[in-house]
Amino acid sequence: MSVNKDIKRMTTHVIQEMKERDEKITMLTAYDFSMARILDAANIDVLLVGDSASNVMAGHETTLPITLDQMIYHASSVVRAVKRALVVVDLPFGSYQGNSRIALESTIRIMKESGAHAVKLEGGAEIQESIKRILSAGVPVMGHLGLTPQSIYKFGTYTVRAKEEAEANKLIEDAKLLQELGCFAIVLEKIPAKLAKRVTESIDIPTIGIGAGPDVSGQVLVSHDLLGITKDFKPRFLRRYLNLFDEIKRAAEQYGDDVRSGNFPNEKEQY
Ligand code: KIV
Repeated sequence: MSVNKDIKRMTTHVIQEMKERDEKITMLTAYDFSMARILDAANIDVLLVGDSASNVMAGHETTLPITLDQMIYHASSVVRAVKRALVVVDLPFGSYQGNSRIALESTIRIMKESGAHAVKLEGGAEIQESIKRILSAGVPVMGHLGLTPQSIYKFGTYTVRAKEEAEANKLIEDAKLLQELGCFAIVLEKIPAKLAKRVTESIDIPTIGIGAGPDVSGQVLVSHDLLGITKDFKPRFLRRYLNLFDEIKRAAEQYGDDVRSGNFPNEKEQY
């Protein structure tokens, strides 16, 4: 297994070359400086400043409430931490749908004010004008198909998408269109593994899966889920590598006990 850790900076070109070499691409979410520094030091290829910040950082039920200003705040914190990873930022709900001029203005604000390297938009044919306009300004675009959480009130649930043939066929057409428009990669969220494989084989640009099985060009998870900071979110596709909720709780309880008992600070922990 080779890791692209010798590369000084990940770029969209390196991501494309990785797909061509059949080398898996790693992507995780990051929303703040300290976490981004750790994930970058771990040689994660792409850090996604996801609008899932709305859930895990701000405690909202959906991704809809997060604003462009808030995304820029998170993105600029991540960019300051990163030496190697490609930083991709989600355009939040309401900042690109239905109006390509607004989509371009939102993107320019993200690029100028955060220093990020690319943006991600949810959807296919219905947002093609926005994608074209952003690309015409020279900004790399990552697509996102399958379960698109900004449309949760249209879907009604967060269950697996594109199980039926009609939706699966539209997804494949959308993936081909995103490639034709010039997107550099596509996130495939919560779709059958067989469909993700078909999509990946039908296009030349990389696919990054979340709940989309192994036959994609790379994987993405929400870092707080992988680290076990979130506790109640238990989809089948999630592998937890730590249980930080309990670990942090235990440390905070110990600190509380030590302060209350007078055990902290001790003689060495004072001036
Ligand atoms: O916002 C996010 O975290 C995402 C990932 C789930 C791909 O879009």
